[in-house]
Amino acid sequence: MPRRILVTSALPYVNGHIHIGHLVEYLQTDIFVRFLRLQGHEVAFICADDVHGTATMIAARNRGVPESTIIGEMAAAHQKDFADFGIRFDHYGSTDSASNRESVHAIWAALRAGGHVTSRDVTQLYDPKAGTFLADRFVKGTCPKCGAPDQYGDSCDKCSSTFSPTELKDAVSTLSGAKPELRSATHHFVQLEHFRRFLEDWVGEAGHLHPDMAKWVKNTFLREGEPLRDWDVSRPAPYFGFEIPDAPGHFFYVWLDAPVGYVASTRDWCAATGQDWTSWWQGGKAEIHHVIGKDIAYFHTLFWPANLKAVGWNLPTKVHIHGFLTVNGEKMSKSKGTFVRARTYLDHLEAPWLRYYYAAKLNGTAEDLDMNLAEFKEKVDSDLVGKVVNLASRTARFVPRLTDAYPDDGGLFARAAAESGAIAEAYERLDTAAAMRLIMAAADRANEYVARTEPWTLKKDPTKADELARVCTVALNLFRQICVYLAPVLPQVAAEAGRLLNAPITAWSDAQRPVTGNAIAAYQNLMGRVDPEKLQAMIASSTVAEPAPTPVASAAPTEALAATIAFDDFAKVDLRVAQVLTAEDVPKAKKIVKLRVSLGSLGERTIFAGIKAAFPDVAVLVGRKIVVVANLAPRTMSFGVSEGMVIAAGEAPNAFLLTPDAGAEPGMRLH
Ligand code: MSP
Ligand code: ZN
Repeated sequence: MPRRILVTSALPYVNGHIHIGHLVEYLQTDIFVRFLRLQGHEVAFICADDVHGTATMIAARNRGVPESTIIGEMAAAHQKDFADFGIRFDHYGSTDSASNRESVHAIWAALRAGGHVTSRDVTQLYDPKAGTFLADRFVKGTCPKCGAPDQYGDSCDKCSSTFSPTELKDAVSTLSGAKPELRSATHHFVQLEHFRRFLEDWVGEAGHLHPDMAKWVKNTFLREGEPLRDWDVSRPAPYFGFEIPDAPGHFFYVWLDAPVGYVASTRDWCAATGQDWTSWWQGGKAEIHHVIGKDIAYFHTLFWPANLKAVGWNLPTKVHIHGFLTVNGEKMSKSKGTFVRARTYLDHLEAPWLRYYYAAKLNGTAEDLDMNLAEFKEKVDSDLVGKVVNLASRTARFVPRLTDAYPDDGGLFARAAAESGAIAEAYERLDTAAAMRLIMAAADRANEYVARTEPWTLKKDPTKADELARVCTVALNLFRQICVYLAPVLPQVAAEAGRLLNAPITAWSDAQRPVTGNAIAAYQNLMGRVDPEKLQAMIASSTVAEPAPTPVASAAPTEALAATIAFDDFAKVDLRVAQVLTAEDVPKAKKIVKLRVSLGSLGERTIFAGIKAAFPDVAVLVGRKIVVVANLAPRTMSFGVSEGMVIAAGEAPNAFLLTPDAGAEPGMRLH
């Protein structure tokens, strides 16, 4: 029975670029959606940018532009990143839309009418210079418990104590540096306790949440005998958001209107495609699936269902919660180069690799997942190239067409066809790790078949042409069957498999029947292995140097200007873009780094540079593009010959290397 299913990913904040942590979620959701579509269900995949809040207001102020400029730029960047990873939303909206304002008003009216809103004064820190109240993260000061300086308004990372920002000593506003004052203002609250019985039932009802998450929500937020705290949903002006219709000068807090964006984006999509949005959000005719990270589970399992309940719209059928990404076992880090933007990944590596790698790691629970870079390469190379691509690359060129009858394959096709249900069930619970294990086991069996039948040996013997045709027909059908199962993860590979055998993959059931008699198209390489140098280069371009402990640079007097030179003097210096291939310490010289750099078609050079103090871990230099003097006479040092000079601003330990804009290639001359 085809289902109608609305699927959402969380709405990314407008104040930052998409990174590989976000992609865990957007790729997971896209795979789920593609799977549901392949099964023949009617699916709407909805997302939007989450644009309101203080951060947007401050960013706009700092740049001297209206908020709409920032929103427009980021919406374009987000959507380009998603598209280039093959993430295909039906609609990508924005929470500042007219439809969102209207939907928020409807929810607010229902909350008011139900008697769920209360108001009282709240005293908060206020920045008199910036003219705004300060959220905890915009206040810094000295920890009231241990005296550690430079701590944020709600907790101390030295002694881990938590406190209210009004307790901080020597507090300053991070917006303006002003000393905050205490001011009070009226705030509006939703009385969540009114929804307690409903929430207990909704959370407890089988199926809405993974059982582990249901338990966690109950034990964390719905504890016996502890009333649910009122939820503060308003902010006094100035605030970038929707003004509250019956409380002028007060605005809805961003987390009130953000999830409503799911509805508003659906409304905009329906308006554009001639549908009735209520068929998705009212009357229970459609399922609603939200995919989110564990950090925002609170908003999606308490506030959001309560608001939907109040207004009488459809409740989520299921909230799928995933864990957080770590890289090489640690939190993503800018100084380690593991805080990788989606765009930086795409500059160096292929999108399908990450789609497969995350699919192989995600198991439908909220456990954190680790991206280990060595494992990433190993999985892509051995699973995708070694097991899947090889099946086609070793057989597709040997015969012009498939045999008319499907040959005896010892039951291999039938066995994998029979696993269709188990693989589908795993996809349905977002346990793609289990799905990938089943698919790769089928690929292993197919590869054993090819190894045993040796088509490359049959090819050499003209009397074995029939046997060769049978063997290739089996291998290519097993390949296509695997591609059907992988289609949600690797849509392009599936499309290519369809083209190769003149039998497009359009439905999950395509894995049930072998293709026979078709002509085989020219084989095109489907996917390559991960180049470790490119992986290194991605990390290198994501590395942001930690600020030097003592910023001597700014305190040091500016070096006096050198004597004027003629243009000809400048032209004598040949400056080139170079890419670092290897970087090593020099045991005999503690201040020196030995670099091997590429100058493109001009060849490679060894250069010794006195920048060790600025780069304690020289490995971060590998892959970086830098600028070197390329026509300096070679200089012999006790540890070797230096064939050039690296250009840097300042001197170690405050040396700053120069990096060209994206697009510059090794060997290009600077003019
Ligand atoms: N704007 C809110 C969501 C509003 S939904 C009505 C938000 N935005 S976010 O940009 O910070 O995060 C978007 C999604 O990406 C969230 O579900 C979040 O959990 C997920 N992730 C962000 N960083 C992540 C990792 N490092 N790892 C896995 N998921 C991560 O929250
Ligand atoms: Zn402290």
